Parts: sequence; C-alpha cells; structure tokens
Amino acid sequence: MNRIALIGANGQLATDIIKVFNKDYFQITPLTHKDVEITDVNNTRKVLEEINPDIVINTAAYHKVDEVEDNPEKAFLVNSTAQKNLAEVCEKNNWTLVYISTDYVFGQDEKRKKPYKETDNTGPINVYGVSKLAGEKFTQYICSKYFIVRVCGLFGVAGSSGKGGNFVELMVRLGKEKGEVSVVDDQILTPTYTKNIAENLQELLKTDYYGLYHLTSEGQCSWWEFANEIFKLLKLKVKNNPVDSKFFKTRAKRPKFSVLEKYHLNKINLNLMRDWKENLRLYLIEKCYLK
Ligand SMILES: NC(=O)c1ccc[n+]([C@@H]2O[C@H](COP(=O)([O-])OP(=O)(O)OC[C@H]3O[C@@H](n4cnc5c(N)ncnc54)[C@H](OP(=O)(O)O)[C@@H]3O)[C@@H](O)[C@H]2O)c1
Repeated sequence: MNRIALIGANGQLATDIIKVFNKDYFQITPLTHKDVEITDVNNTRKVLEEINPDIVINTAAYHKVDEVEDNPEKAFLVNSTAQKNLAEVCEKNNWTLVYISTDYVFGQDEKRKKPYKETDNTGPINVYGVSKLAGEKFTQYICSKYFIVRVCGLFGVAGSSGKGGNFVELMVRLGKEKGEVSVVDDQILTPTYTKNIAENLQELLKTDYYGLYHLTSEGQCSWWEFANEIFKLLKLKVKNNPVDSKFFKTRAKRPKFSVLEKYHLNKINLNLMRDWKENLRLYLIEKCYLK
C-alpha cells in the first residue's frame, strides 16, 4: 500500500484524484487548505511528518493569472518558495514529490505551431508562468524522487476553486443566459479533463520513472473551437463570435500556442489520454448535461 498526502484536496484536480485512485493500492490522506498552509514551512513539515506518506502530491497553486500580475510576492510564495520547502521536507524523508505544473511555462515563441516536448526550452510570458517554472526548478534540483506533471486547460466536476469554476461551466452559463458569446480564437491549447489526468497519473505513480511529464488530452483547439464543441454537444443555439486576444484587455499575457507533446509518457508506453472532444463528452455526461 502506498500512502499519499494530497495537498489542495478540495480543488478541481485533487477531487478527481481522490475519486479515481484505486483504494487497494493507494491510501490517500486529503489535505485541504484548512488542514495545511504550504507557505508555512513549520506547519507543512508537522502535518506531513505526522502522516509519513510515501508520496506527496501538491496540486495547490495561486493561479488567478491576471490577479497574479499585481501580486508577484504571493505567487512566488505559494508557487515557488512553498514548493522549495516541500521539496526539502520530501527529500529529507525520502518521499516522492509530485508537482502539478502548467503549459504556461511556455509562450515566448509566438509563431510556434509544433507541440512542445518536455525537452524544449521553456519561456513563460507572465508572472504565474515564471513562478510555476521556479517551482519546477526547485523540485528538480532538490528532490531525488519527483514527478513534475504539466497540465493544460483543466475542466473537472469540482470546478477550479482558485479560479471560481471552469471554462465549460462559464460557456454553459453565458450561452444559456445571453445566447451570444465572444471567445478568443488565437490562443491554441489542449482542454483536459481532470478525471483522465487522474487515471493516467495513478498509473505513472505506480512506476519509478521519475521526471518531467506532459499530461494533457490528445489534440488541440482554440478557446473559440472549444466553446463551439460545448454548444454543439449540448445542442445550444448560441452565437459564438471569434475574437482575437486584443479584444479582451487582460492584465496577463497568454501564450498563443501552448500545446504539449506527451513525449516522455509515450516513451514509457503509458499514455492513457483521450482526445479532448471525447473527454469533453464524458465530462458533460458526468455533469448530467448529456446522456
Ligand atoms: N485550472 C487550470 O486550467 C490549470 C491549467 C494548468 C495548470 N494548472 C495547475 O494545476 C493544479 C491544479 O489546478 P486546479 O484547477 O485543480 O486548482 P484548484 O481547484 O484551485 O485547487 C487548488 C487547491 O489548493 C488549495 N490551496 C491554495 N493555496 C494553498 C496554500 N497556500 N496552502 C494549501 N492549500 C492551498 C486551494 O484551497 P482554497 O481554494 O481553499 O484556497 C484549492 O483547494 C495547480 O497547481 C495549477 O497551477 C491548472
């Protein structure tokens, strides 16, 4: 039996980790923000040493991307320094550390059209991306046993607590309320169902193939295409206007292209990710929007 301490347990991804992970193989201790404050190193060490897990999964983040631009200190505290402290505690106790990272560690190459491999140079274009990249770097140089897992465009039944929901729910709500939406079509990503990530992550954690992994659905689309597919599957009659990024004046810049290739997962023959459209359909069924 592998014991897991799961940080950020109320969150969107963690909720599915708890649901999906096989209880005969993994014994999870869920840690909500009330149970542990990862920016407080003494509290974190005490809580974790009481559990004495084999694996620590950190899903916690400060990831309101626009708000983060004006709060870099908090971003570095939560996304980087706290991860450094966690890495040190894990290394001292010989525990494996899992850090959930992001496609936003990329973005400087505006003309990019080819999915990024784990071995490609990073280049974030906002404070959030820089702070998560620093979290990755601390993990890599401090821990002997780690998995860094970069994910992208998450949607899951719990909705992101840090972001107040997810894109699918926003489109369903706006589509029903207004019958018309404007969505950017010059940012290309891979929408990913947190349940599918959890399914694949548990298989990865059964191995000792430590390292850096991209873990996203198959395929890619713009946010506009993503919205179109939602309306199509739900048979909602919504006018969906494609607009470019300049239409919405946001505080943080976003990558024009942040599709990730699952090079390392494929290399170890452990890619269980479905196409994003199929993942969307399964999500809509789980939410009872579809039969
Ligand atoms: N959502 C996306 O589209 C997306 C895309 C790429 C990467 N990611 C990464 O994926 C991970 C999971 O995302 P998610 O959408 O599942 O996030 P989420 O729903 O916001 O969950 C994060 C959890 O962490 C907790 N938390 C925040 N700060 C904490 C702290 N200082 N100490 C302890 N707990 C804290 C939050 O609790 P409270 O809400 O109670 O504060 C929340 O339950 C994050 O690391 C994020 O950077 C997300």
